[in-house]
Amino acid sequence: MLAGARPVAPFRPGGQNVSVFLDALRGGEPAHMPVWFMRQAGRALAEYRALRERHDFEEVVHDPELTVEVTLQPIRRYGVDAAILFSDIVTPVQAVGVPIMIRPGVGPVLDDPIRSADDLARLRPLEPDEDVPYVLDAIRMLVDELDDDVPLIGFAGAPFTLASYLVEGRPTRNHAVAKSLMRTDPVLWDGLMTRLADLVLVHLRAQVGAGARAVQLFDSWAGSLSPDDYRRHVLPHSRRILSGLADLDVPRIHFGVGTGELLGLMAAAGADVVGVDWRVPMDVARERIPADVATQGNVDPTAVVAGRGPALAAADDVLGRVGTRTDHVFNLGHGVLPSSDPGVLADLVDHVHAATGR
Ligand code: CP3
Repeated sequence: MLAGARPVAPFRPGGQNVSVFLDALRGGEPAHMPVWFMRQAGRALAEYRALRERHDFEEVVHDPELTVEVTLQPIRRYGVDAAILFSDIVTPVQAVGVPIMIRPGVGPVLDDPIRSADDLARLRPLEPDEDVPYVLDAIRMLVDELDDDVPLIGFAGAPFTLASYLVEGRPTRNHAVAKSLMRTDPVLWDGLMTRLADLVLVHLRAQVGAGARAVQLFDSWAGSLSPDDYRRHVLPHSRRILSGLADLDVPRIHFGVGTGELLGLMAAAGADVVGVDWRVPMDVARERIPADVATQGNVDPTAVVAGRGPALAAADDVLGRVGTRTDHVFNLGHGVLPSSDPGVLADLVDHVHAATGR
C-alpha cells in the first residue's frame, strides 16, 4: 500500500454503509437512489479535452497521476455516487504484449488479429503487479483521494467483447468473423475465451485487492448473440469470472448493449446487478431478472444530448418503472456521448437525488 493510503471501508450489511451505492446493493434503505454514469469521464468534459490536448489516450491510461485526475473530473462536476476507474477494456490485453491500440474516433484496432491456435500463445497470463502496476497504483491513489461515500468501481471487458476486437482486429457492427470462429472452430473459440476469462479474472481480483469496492463486467457487444449461442459459447466463461470473484464480497455488475433477450442469462452468469440498456423499459427488464438481483440503468444517452427537459423526462420514466424498489442504481443505458452537456448530467444527478430522497 502507498504511504498514507487509508484502509478501504468494508462492505457492510444494508443500512451500515456510508455509501448509498453500496447500501442499495446490500439490501439497505439508502438516503436516495445512487447515480453514476458509464463513461462519465471523457470527451463531454472540457477539462478532459484540455488534458487530452497535452497527453494522448494511452499516456493517460498508463500514468497513474493522469488516471487519477481524469477519474476525479466527473466526481467534481456531477455529484455522482460512485467513481469508475479511468482505463480501457483493452488495457490488460495490451499489458500481456498484444499490440491492440485505441484509434481515436474509431476504437480498438489490432493489425494482426488472433485467428489461429498459434495466435493463442500471444495471450499469456496476466501478472498484475508486473504487467499493470500503473492501474493498481492509480486505484490505491484514488482510494486515498475519494471519500468513503464515493466508492471506486473497477472494471474489465468480458471475454466475448474482448474476443470480438481481437478476432476482428477492429470494431464491427455484426462481429461476423468472431462469430464464424465461434461456430466453425469451437475448440479454438473455447481456448480463446478461456484465456481471456483467466486474464480478466486476475485483473479484476487485483483491482479489488488494490481498493476497488465494486466491479463491472462490460460485455458491451453480447447483444449480437442469440440466447442459445450466448448460453453455449459465452456464458460459461463469464460465469467463471463472476463466480471467481464471489469470495471478495464486492457487488458484481454485468452489462451489455442490446441484451434485452439475454438479461436472465446475464443474471444467471453470477451477477449481483444487471445493467440494462435503454431499449427495454425498466419494469419489463425487472420481470426478466431474478428478484434477488439488482438493476442498473437505463436512460437513453441521446436523451441527455437532447437537453435538460428530455433528459429529466427520461429519468422520471425510469424512476416510475423502478417504483419503490431500493436496489436500483440509476445510470444511462450506455456511455455518456461526447456531445452531452455536462450541465444536463449534473441536473440529472440532482433531480434523481431529490426525487428519490427520503
Ligand atoms: O466510464 C468511464 O468513465 C471509465 C472509462 C472507460 C473508458 N473505456 C475510457 C475511454 C471505460 C469503462 C471504457 C470501457 C470500454 N472501452 C468499453 C466498454 C464500455 C462501452 O462503451 O460499452 C469498450 C467497448 C471500449 C473500447 C473503446 N475504447 C472504444 C469503443 C473507444 C472509443 C473510441 C472513440 O474515440 O470513439 C475507446 C476509447 C476510450 N475509452 C475513450 C475513453 C474516454 C475515448 C478516448 C479519447 O479519445 O479520449
